[in-house]
Amino acid sequence: MAEFNVDPYVDLYARRTSGMSASEVRALFAVAAQGDVISLAGGMPFVQALPTDHVLEVVASVLSERADIALQYGVGQGSAALRQRLAMLMAEEGTLADPEDMIVTTGAQQGLDLVGKVLIDPGDVIAIEAPAYVGALSAFSAYEPRYLQVDLDDEGMIVDQLEDALLKGARPKFVYTVPNFHNPAGVTMSGRRREHLVALCREARIPILEDNPYGLLRFEGDLEPTLRSLDPTNVIYLGTVSKVFSPGVRVGWALAGSGVLQRLVLAKEAADLCGSNLNMLLTERYLSGDTWRGNLAHLVSVYVARRDVMLASLAEHFPNGATWTRPAGGFYVWVRLPQYVDARAMLAAAVDRRVAYVPGTAFYPDGRGRDRMRLAFCHPTEDRIEEGVKRLGELLSDEEELYRSLSG
Ligand SMILES: Cc1ncc(COP(=O)(O)O)c(C=O)c1O
Repeated sequence: MAEFNVDPYVDLYARRTSGMSASEVRALFAVAAQGDVISLAGGMPFVQALPTDHVLEVVASVLSERADIALQYGVGQGSAALRQRLAMLMAEEGTLADPEDMIVTTGAQQGLDLVGKVLIDPGDVIAIEAPAYVGALSAFSAYEPRYLQVDLDDEGMIVDQLEDALLKGARPKFVYTVPNFHNPAGVTMSGRRREHLVALCREARIPILEDNPYGLLRFEGDLEPTLRSLDPTNVIYLGTVSKVFSPGVRVGWALAGSGVLQRLVLAKEAADLCGSNLNMLLTERYLSGDTWRGNLAHLVSVYVARRDVMLASLAEHFPNGATWTRPAGGFYVWVRLPQYVDARAMLAAAVDRRVAYVPGTAFYPDGRGRDRMRLAFCHPTEDRIEEGVKRLGELLSDEEELYRSLSG
């Protein structure tokens, strides 16, 4: 047995692997999975709220009626019948989608990877939001881009900042955005910012990559048009059934013009030949009829109640100087902590107190976000959310005391 744990292949790895680092969120899932830890970390949909009898009926009907197809290879683009259903789902948010322009992917996550594969050369600049979805950073970073980070505020991406950067000569390959109920920031892009972004990118001939997993999880506020509906020719759209049905079936999709689409299909076939026919049929069946609408309305009612408990608990237990966003949908509250707190350093103490969150640094490629944390309200019960926020509040009081004693 080797005396030291040295990797014998350390000199062999491709350069792109140096951009791959273990996501802080993933590492936390293992800790948070310990039953007594209240996890406000992972954005896991509350699939327990789906009615078991309906899910069983869907599975049984697919396997009894279509096993020959379900157990077979499928086509790289995904079945036409499913693409039609997914186009219907997009119509719920007012977006017209042609199933011919669509490829079914293994979750939206594969869409992010495939777009990266097709569009990013090493050294290319891509514009992202700051903060940005950590899984997008993982997917893109494997293709060795440089990032142009555009800040967010309560109206979503600050498009003026992007415009300034373009005026100064920046030429991003594409602009990546999560306009609805942002992960991690919880904010939604305003109508005027959407118009501005779409016009700016059209003019500059820079494609937009719109990632919209949470759009149908709206608690309040007006429906804003998708970027894709504002400019079908310059927006590549990513969707998923993970948050409206199940992340376990791993069904997402990308919508793109024919040049990009063809390349996405080739890249997808190289990665996995085709998606899972079984899971595609389950999704198609789940989305047929109207039962899914009632299930979704129920899920949304569970999430909004949890959001309310989280906001009330934050107001009660978090210290002066902390601020947070008020999401109108989705899963996440983004907290700005007092300057003296290092959320990453504090995580171990939080886990000791049996509560977990994601430190803000996970969401920036440049190490910013030390004084931020993402709290997810989707999975724990209301009691556990309140208890978890209380534990964090106590920990923050201790941090404050320590800071005051050290600064005399
Ligand atoms: C913004 C965003 N994009 C993509 C994904 C990946 O979703 P999927 O389960 O469809 O791969 C997530 C999952 O949390 C997400 O929050």
